[in-house]
Amino acid sequence: MSNMSSTSSITAAGTYRLGDRTLNRLGYGAMQLAGPGVFGPPKNRPEALAVLRAAVAAGVNHIDTSDFYGPHVTNEIIREALAPYPGDLVLVTKIGARRGADASWLPAFSPDELKRAVDDNLRNLGLEQLEVVNLRLMFDTHGPAEGPIAEQLAVLADLRHQGLVRHIGLSNATARQIAEARQMMPIVCVQNQYNLAHRADDALIDDLARDGIAYVPFFPLGGFSPLQSATLSEVAEGLKATPMQVALAWLLKRSPNILLIPGTSSTAHLKENLAAADLDLPPQALAALDGIGRAG
Ligand SMILES: NC(=O)c1ccc[n+]([C@@H]2O[C@H](COP(=O)([O-])OP(=O)(O)OC[C@H]3O[C@@H](n4cnc5c(N)ncnc54)[C@H](OP(=O)(O)O)[C@@H]3O)[C@@H](O)[C@H]2O)c1
Repeated sequence: MSNMSSTSSITAAGTYRLGDRTLNRLGYGAMQLAGPGVFGPPKNRPEALAVLRAAVAAGVNHIDTSDFYGPHVTNEIIREALAPYPGDLVLVTKIGARRGADASWLPAFSPDELKRAVDDNLRNLGLEQLEVVNLRLMFDTHGPAEGPIAEQLAVLADLRHQGLVRHIGLSNATARQIAEARQMMPIVCVQNQYNLAHRADDALIDDLARDGIAYVPFFPLGGFSPLQSATLSEVAEGLKATPMQVALAWLLKRSPNILLIPGTSSTAHLKENLAAADLDLPPQALAALDGIGRAG
């Protein structure tokens, strides 16, 4: 790529604080390591192990996971690939959902289910403490929706008191739920759907940035239907980069509190995505890319 250095390094994307750790802003999301539909074993287990090892070798120190990926499968692969874990690696997990026998995504919000989910994550990751646990809200599986969360947060506070959880975040949450949670305890990150074309959280991201809270967009590349846009392709071509790299570089520019966790099951895609760290987006490209969200 002409405008990227030949010795690209993910540190070019900078760092941001998550809890009391400083993380490289380019991380990795492990959901794609389970089988098709995030259910069952992967098609290519050696490649799944290789992706994780390549991510850490490239400097990734933030990996997002959950025990409901597989279920259990993704965490077991992470443990096999990476344990004993490097000291600077932060594994972030989420609880609040479970999988049906038909691969459906169901709420698992009772105190017992939440405690069991923390135990499952600890056991399958081989950890004594989970660094960050996101409470994944399921009032609407596909997007933030209002609903009470005080009881669930109290369970997490208790697990933190027991030393099983260090920091707490929220996922698929509304601004009101985040404010309610912050009155009860520190919230270190919010993980909601956000990308070039899906910008419902624009104002929330700015508010969280002001308060020093990390925003971790899920589906940064569009998720199960990767982003497709003529403007994105044109900008990418002009920069001699790929559309996925441009989509990630745009997120890095969007706000300093954004930590990226693009998902892939391929070492080639991983390398491509991490190289977005030093892709510079000139003002004209940024303006064109901003237009995609406005049109959407
Ligand atoms: N909190 C939540 O509710 C929630 C929901 C969804 C996801 N997440 C987290 O967010 C992370 C990221 O989301 P995601 O993995 O679902 O979606 P994503 O990062 O937006 O996109 C992943 C998809 O893009 C493809 N891809 C990745 N790099 C590519 C490249 N360079 N070129 C072409 N295709 C590429 C992947 O296929 P290949 O495998 O073929 O590369 C996969 O199909 C997940 O891993 C998970 O940890 C959280």
